[in-house]
Amino acid sequence: MGMIRETKESDLEKVFNLIYSAFGNKAESDLVRQLILDEDVFLNLIFESSDTIVGNIVVSKISMAPDKGLLCGGIAPLSVLPENQSFGIGSQLMESAIKKSKEMKIDALFLLGDPNYYKRFNFKVSNLPSDYSAEHFQELELTKDCLVNVKSKVIYANAFTSL
Ligand SMILES: CC(C)(COP(=O)(O)OP(=O)(O)OC[C@H]1O[C@@H](n2cnc3c(N)ncnc32)[C@H](O)[C@@H]1OP(=O)(O)O)[C@@H](O)C(=O)NCCC(=O)NCCS
Repeated sequence: MGMIRETKESDLEKVFNLIYSAFGNKAESDLVRQLILDEDVFLNLIFESSDTIVGNIVVSKISMAPDKGLLCGGIAPLSVLPENQSFGIGSQLMESAIKKSKEMKIDALFLLGDPNYYKRFNFKVSNLPSDYSAEHFQELELTKDCLVNVKSKVIYANAFTSL
């Protein structure tokens, strides 16, 4: 049992610790710190169970070059505490981030990860250029066919350059 809610300022240190525990290094927690400082965060959600924060997902601003007038978000990182993994918490956070992104009128979401995991949320490997591994770079259209004729480069927020 648990609930998903927006991350508050007072949750942040716990969230950074959780991200650190999930990934085993500071790169991703530092990334989120910088995204917040840069005001590039669209969504920052936590999964809370018995007053403990066990999961987190962040959606940040993405731009395209050339710009196509689309509102795009990048999902990263998605983290669940090691002892709480494989109980569906990651999936619930993803579903919630997708739903809220639609409510925010985001046209498309991107992420980097194992396509075998993310295909369950309808992500597919993207044909668009980015600075990341083409096999792991995936997209999800929230506005139907919005990426069909797009060939622009997908550019993550500045904080990702130090990752
Ligand atoms: C990836 C992660 C968020 C999934 O959270 P979770 O709560 O365990 O996910 P769910 O319970 O919803 O789904 C579990 C499924 O994900 C699979 N899975 C977990 N991590 C995976 C990974 N890195 N790559 C591929 N599949 C993965 C499990 O094998 C399981 O598959 P199954 O449903 O077929 O048994 C969590 O494992 C995690 O925090 N990992 C460390 C950080 C990380 O790698 N994040 C993703 C990159 S940003």
